[in-house]
Amino acid sequence: MTNQGVGTRTGSPASGPADGQAPSRRSVLDRLVQPAYLYPPYKSTVLRGPKHPLVPLPHNLSDLTGPVYGESDVTQFDSDLTRNAVNGGEPLGERIIVTGRVLDERGRPVRSALIEVWQANSAGRYVHKGDQHDAPLDPNFLGAGRCLTNDEGRYTFTTIRPGAYPWRNHANAWRPPHIHLSVFGRAFHSRLVTQMYFPGDPLLAFDPIYQSIPDDAARQRLISHYDHDVTTPEWALGYRFDIVLGGGLETPFEEGH
Ligand SMILES: [Fe+2]
Repeated sequence: MTNQGVGTRTGSPASGPADGQAPSRRSVLDRLVQPAYLYPPYKSTVLRGPKHPLVPLPHNLSDLTGPVYGESDVTQFDSDLTRNAVNGGEPLGERIIVTGRVLDERGRPVRSALIEVWQANSAGRYVHKGDQHDAPLDPNFLGAGRCLTNDEGRYTFTTIRPGAYPWRNHANAWRPPHIHLSVFGRAFHSRLVTQMYFPGDPLLAFDPIYQSIPDDAARQRLISHYDHDVTTPEWALGYRFDIVLGGGLETPFEEGH
């Protein structure tokens, strides 16, 4: 791990080869927790999965010290997805608070990490030209936000519970409601990306992306917990989702982006 403990799967010796099997240098733990690059039920991995073992690239000084973003660019309003759309109105749907801590492999907080989130609206539609799902866009919801972790490694977002959406991976394929999260350390190559799901969702059993994580306990770590202490009276339900960057409780991450 580098840069405040935020690492990357891209070009890492821990990456898997094209056949989805683990090379000798991939740890047993990593094979259980992290999805293989090639998982045929998740069809697009067949096209984009690497055909040869990955080649680790050495990091140079500019990789480690080059600017990523300015902390002053991130405002408190960026973390409220119910307020950061240009139209200024209230988005439709169930308002929720999502909060958690970013922790390293020893359970220590990762401070000043940039957390970015993106998600569908309450009807299951993204603000993206590639999303032609027959569901309404919400003019008051962009579906994107960001914040920096505080000294406890904590992030907090206010948003709308996303809807499920169809994705044509197979017959009657629906993604379970989820929020995409990206974690940056102090360098661009330190990015990690994952998805947060909601407890009790029957679609999880049918979702090849969720099911591509080999170990059930690791899969469970992608499901947020309802937290009544986070729930705010007369305002929003609260969910807790911690991100652990290594060790026995490591969060499953997606392939390098
Ligand atoms: Fe998505």
